[in-house]
Amino acid sequence: MNKIIYFEKKALELLKILTLPYMIGFVQGHSYLTQQQIMDVKNALNSNDNNKDIVTDYEQRLSDLIGNGYGISFASGRMAFYSILKTLNIGKGDEVILPAFTCSVMLNAIWRTGATPVFTEIDPETFGSDADGIKKKITPRTKAIVAQHSFGIPCNINEILELAEKYGIYVIEDCAITFDSTINGIKVGNFGDAAIFSTDHSKPVNTIIGGFFYSNNRSLYEKVKVFSSELLQLDNRHQKRLYEQFLFERKYYTPEKYPRSIILNNYNALKKRLSSGKNEFTFLEGDYKKQGSQDSGYPYPSRIPSFLAQIGIFELERWEKEKKHRKNLLNQYLDIISESNSNKFISREYFNPEKDIVPLRFVFRHPDHKNMMRRMSQFIDVNWTWFMEPIICCPDGPGSLGYNQGTCNKTEKVCNEIINWPCVLDESWDSKLMEIFRKIINDEK
Ligand SMILES: Cc1ncc(COP(=O)(O)O)c(C=O)c1O
Repeated sequence: MNKIIYFEKKALELLKILTLPYMIGFVQGHSYLTQQQIMDVKNALNSNDNNKDIVTDYEQRLSDLIGNGYGISFASGRMAFYSILKTLNIGKGDEVILPAFTCSVMLNAIWRTGATPVFTEIDPETFGSDADGIKKKITPRTKAIVAQHSFGIPCNINEILELAEKYGIYVIEDCAITFDSTINGIKVGNFGDAAIFSTDHSKPVNTIIGGFFYSNNRSLYEKVKVFSSELLQLDNRHQKRLYEQFLFERKYYTPEKYPRSIILNNYNALKKRLSSGKNEFTFLEGDYKKQGSQDSGYPYPSRIPSFLAQIGIFELERWEKEKKHRKNLLNQYLDIISESNSNKFISREYFNPEKDIVPLRFVFRHPDHKNMMRRMSQFIDVNWTWFMEPIICCPDGPGSLGYNQGTCNKTEKVCNEIINWPCVLDESWDSKLMEIFRKIINDEK
């Protein structure tokens, strides 16, 4: 598109957003934190020795919540994944199977080790990994299978475990977008040889950026621990940018102020583009391409800074309340959609008695996806809809990371139809959100 037309369109779009009285996003700021808690976060940021006690405390609490295993925190989920692959000696000549419904940073982590990613179809009911798809892609070179649980819905992992056992392949659970959901009472993260979690700002436990390794295998944990003990920290300037982002989101990521946050984010992005200085990422955006960018400006992999672990401790202290709220929103969505003409589009997995789902987002497939998204965009930040392509956060397209369009048709169809509704919000907005959902699902004016 011509640059001038692009900027004109963008300016008009932003002007329209500015007139909106509110907008509901998929990320919520930490508005519940008290001034004293903010001081605790700031003190952790300023402590010179990068307070190890806070990180240890956070790791213990998070591991205890997942199960009886062992955990190690990282600056992101992808870095936890990379560290597992390296510890398992997976590299050149090896293949790693994962769904064609992933984030570019997972592929980047595989490419960094020298191994090759192999894509498989997802199960359109769970939106996650599927044993049938995986079976077709196993070769003598397959060293690991990524079993991804999506949007809070556990995938049917027992079938994947059977396959892995038969062929002697490691299973790494990708729990980046599913936290605290269970199958027959067992929490995700406890099925495979190891699991990764993400705690970035769009995830159930929000530490702005962050990731977690978890395993019930003590010997694997000890090895990852040795690997991670050598790692560098994000530098002080980067940590300060993250702290400022935390304060910004705390202030602006509420429905009333959300339209203003979009304008400010666009303004800051433009300022960054115009300044010709070196890349100063906040969100580790250097990992979206095939090779690790040499000048991304942060150490890869790295550990979580202690002030983010401190935020994580506060997040975990209120998790039970947050979990209840998410499940409550899911039930309300299900009640409304069940009574509408769209009831045929709901995944049966939401009613699977073996699964307890803690939703990240409420998702379904709708054939009139485009029209629904257009109507939602007056109230919901639909630009944050995930998996409208087989690989998200991919500036150069899925092909640049090894995915060939047309190779996972079933998954691409899901991408063309997917709808996301938020499950994170201040409770005072619940009834408004449901009013909007009811209107849109019933196609009312
Ligand atoms: C399915 C999936 N796996 C892994 C990740 C990586 O998490 P992180 O951004 O913490 O590295 C993401 C990120 O959103 C994701 O969507």
